[in-house]
Amino acid sequence: MLHTQAISATDKPTLYAELAQQARGLFVGERNLIANAANFSALIYHALPQLNWAGFYLFDGTELVVGPFQGKPACIRIALGRGVCGTAAQQRQTQLVRDVSTHPNHIYCDAASQSEIVVPLIHADGSPPLPRPPHLPPIYHALSVQDMHDLGAYFASQTSRPGVADQALVEPGETLFRQGDATRDIPACMACHSIDGRGNPGAMYPQLAGQHAQYIEATLKAWHDGASWGTDAHSQIMPTIATKLDAKDIAALASYIEGLHAVEGTPAAAATP
Ligand code: HEC
Repeated sequence: MLHTQAISATDKPTLYAELAQQARGLFVGERNLIANAANFSALIYHALPQLNWAGFYLFDGTELVVGPFQGKPACIRIALGRGVCGTAAQQRQTQLVRDVSTHPNHIYCDAASQSEIVVPLIHADGSPPLPRPPHLPPIYHALSVQDMHDLGAYFASQTSRPGVADQALVEPGETLFRQGDATRDIPACMACHSIDGRGNPGAMYPQLAGQHAQYIEATLKAWHDGASWGTDAHSQIMPTIATKLDAKDIAALASYIEGLHAVEGTPAAAATP
């Protein structure tokens, strides 16, 4: 067993300085994430008074999965945006909740927990811990900037062939797409994606026309459930809208969008970088 010293400080700044020093000591010469996370949770758990849990949730590209910790068994998976941990990860902001019973979104794992502090960890190399669609990076990492421009130009030159997923849903879908629903604070999709779903390349609002209903549905549902494609303001636009959509709205929009025709014969304008 590694020996850490009992922490003697009574004021917080000195206590945290001592903890940080001990943590640095534990990490010397070791770069393994699991090993360091395990030792760090043990250090925190034993050094700080009145803790019943200290540990890590690790982002697996989709959601948070429990990692090394000290304390009672914990919830295994937490969706982004859910609970105090999911909120910290989604907003990339430390959450300090003094009384969890007042937190609107708290997940009860252990009734003894009264307060929580969750600090989001962000890769030191600046790479986003919340990647764009997680299955894509291996593909686009191999592309040069020129390749991306060329692919973009090729896709923009294609004409989409619309279908219809479910005729019965097209009408409610059209109403939401064109008018939104002011009573529920849902904006009209066409305000950004244009009336024929062609998008607005200059503002980076993507083309929707020609997308399969299944894809639209899965994408909106993931945003509804707390996923996002990034952490900048632009990436929060769709998650914010999608949380206001229920499953029926999403199915209706997906059916309508699959049937959208980009205006015949005029391919979408290529984005100018
Ligand atoms: C304020 C502008 C805005 C409004 C209004 C808007 N969107 Fe979007 N939409 C965006 C942006 C920006 C993106 C790109 C998402 C990103 O990069 O995070 C996007 C992306 C999408 C995508 C993914 C497209 C793809 O190719 O993967 C879908 C689906 C979508 N929006 C559907 C909708 C629907 C349905 C509505 C109406 C309920 C809507 N949007 C309203 C701005 C908007």
